[in-house]
Amino acid sequence: MPRPHIEPFVDRDVSFKRLRLPGFGRGMHYKVLSLDTESGACSLTVRFDAGYRRPPGMSYSEMELFILAGSISYGDVTYGKGNYFFVPPGVAMPAMTSERGAEALLFYNYGEPSFLESDEDHSEALRDQLIIVDAYEGLQWRIADFVRPSVAPGCMVKLLRSDPLTHAHSLLYCMTPNYWQDNISYHDCAEESYHIYGTSSMMQFGDLPTGGYFWRPAWINHGAFASELGVLGFGRTDSTLHNYFHFNPWSTPEENRQRAAAQLRRYKPNLYEWIRSPDGHNHPHDFEHPGYDYDSGVEMDHEHRHEDGQPHSHGKKARSRRRSTRA
Ligand SMILES: [Fe+2]
Repeated sequence: MPRPHIEPFVDRDVSFKRLRLPGFGRGMHYKVLSLDTESGACSLTVRFDAGYRRPPGMSYSEMELFILAGSISYGDVTYGKGNYFFVPPGVAMPAMTSERGAEALLFYNYGEPSFLESDEDHSEALRDQLIIVDAYEGLQWRIADFVRPSVAPGCMVKLLRSDPLTHAHSLLYCMTPNYWQDNISYHDCAEESYHIYGTSSMMQFGDLPTGGYFWRPAWINHGAFASELGVLGFGRTDSTLHNYFHFNPWSTPEENRQRAAAQLRRYKPNLYEWIRSPDGHNHPHDFEHPGYDYDSGVEMDHEHRHEDGQPHSHGKKARSRRRSTRA
């Protein structure tokens, strides 16, 4: 997901534009928060006019939706603010309506926004991965014990989804009033956040108010930071969130990457040495997921070549099973 670093961005500073893509119908508006110009994957703030309706259908890309205000109905069930949806590619949702209008965050993770009218799932859709949860009323706050080392006390989370293969996270988080953390962090994953309510202050990037957003690639220093009155936010990562803490505000992304690799070499010396050894066939290959493509992040076969010069492939057949159902 080669999206540029965007921080800070405040969606209240820009106007909604009318969405004119095929299948989405009339009455849908958007603001771009971040965009992968190669794949079309994007994060959007969207507004549905009162009376908006769309037939049953599916997307070719993994899609996430979080309702910020108003309500959206899928079939006979109406969902209010705080409801979160993870819809795998090819899973057909019932007809969608918004009787009185709604605003939401909308994410297409591995391709451009797409909609195909259908009352049936695609043959390769993974319906068991569909998630619908009321993040406000249906979950309790918990400490972020899956983030190591942990953030300062006072930052709580509601984990909405963790990708079973990459451990990419989608979560709701909050900072208590007078929250502060005095060190600097960076990660080896991309990190994304939208402020539903509240302002935090970051040493490098200033204030991030309500409607504030960032897409932060790996290795970018951030912190110290604080919030006087507290924050409610929606956050995502594209793999495991590991906090590389330090106190050097001048370190560069390349120095941060080198430091992370040095840590990995100390923590997992055997694995590190094997991965970097020039034996000609040393890239990761998981017998549990033989078709997983480490370049594209999808399960699909592809022919490739190592230093032995022999073209070959690992999967059984060409297909994209997990994140994209496009034929
Ligand atoms: Fe972070």
